[in-house]
Amino acid sequence: MMANKPLALVTGGASGMGLATVERLARDGFRLALIDRDRALADKETARLHALGLDVACHVLDLTDEAAVRALVQALPPITALVNNAGAFDERPFLEVSSADFRRAYEINLIAVATLTQASVQRMPGGGRIVNIASRAYLGARNHPHYVASKAALVGYTRASALELAPRGILVNAIAPGLIATPMLRALSPARLRAQLALQPTGQAGRPEDIAQAVSFLAAPQTGFITGQVLLVDGGKSLGGIAA
Ligand SMILES: NC(=O)c1ccc[n+]([C@@H]2O[C@H](COP(=O)([O-])OP(=O)(O)OC[C@H]3O[C@@H](n4cnc5c(N)ncnc54)[C@H](O)[C@@H]3O)[C@@H](O)[C@H]2O)c1
Repeated sequence: MMANKPLALVTGGASGMGLATVERLARDGFRLALIDRDRALADKETARLHALGLDVACHVLDLTDEAAVRALVQALPPITALVNNAGAFDERPFLEVSSADFRRAYEINLIAVATLTQASVQRMPGGGRIVNIASRAYLGARNHPHYVASKAALVGYTRASALELAPRGILVNAIAPGLIATPMLRALSPARLRAQLALQPTGQAGRPEDIAQAVSFLAAPQTGFITGQVLLVDGGKSLGGIAA
C-alpha cells in the first residue's frame, strides 16, 4: 500500500452508498478511512475490501460522540477528501413528530457533520474536497419533517462552509440523492415504498454506485471550480410533472 496516496474519509462507510463510495474512491486512488458505528458490519466490509486489494482502514465510532471524532481526526494523517455520508432517516406523521425526533435528526444529519468538518479542515493543509450527502427531501417531502428540515439545514451548512473554506482551497458541495436502494429503505413501509417508486420518472430506485459516481466527480482534484452547489442525483424526481 502506497504511503503517499491522498486520504479520504467516508462516514457511514459500512453500508449503502457510503460503502459504495469507499470502494469507488479506493479504486480512484485514495487511501480510505471508513468510519461507522456498526462494528460487525464495518469489520466484515473492510475485510471484503482488503480481499479486493483496496487500501481501506476501518474506524468504529459514533459520530455524535464529539470527543471521539476529534481524537480520531487528530490521530489521522493529513486529509484530502471528506465525505459526510452517515445519516438517519425515519418516518412519522407530521403531528406526531416530537422535539426529541427533531433533536435526533439534527444531531447526526447536521451537528455531527459540522463537528467532523471543523476538525477535518484543520487537517487539510493542501486544500481539499468535502462532499455532504443531503437528500432530495430537502426540497420538501411528506411524513418526515424532522429529516427534511435537517437535510435542508445541511444544504445551508454546505453553502456556508463553501464560502468560509474557499480561501483555503477547500471546495464543499452537497449531493441530494433521490430514492436509492440501500438498507435505509427498510424505514419505509411497503406501501410507502411503492408510493415513492411511483414518483420516479425512471420507474426505479437508484443504486448506491450512482451516488458513488457523483462523489467521485466532486472529490476529484480535477474538479476545481465547483463549490457550494447541490447536485440532485434522483433519476429526475425533482423535475416534477410525474403526475401529469
Ligand atoms: N437511501 C436513500 O434513499 C437515501 C435518499 C436520500 C438521502 N440519503 C442519505 O444518504 C446517506 C446514506 O444513506 P444510506 O441509504 O446509504 O444508509 P444506510 O443505512 O445503508 O447506511 C448508513 C450508515 O451510517 C452509519 N451511521 C448512522 N448513524 C451513525 C452514527 N451516529 N455514527 C456512525 N455511523 C453512523 C450506519 O451504521 C450505516 O452503516 C444518509 O445521510 C441518508 O440520509 C439516503
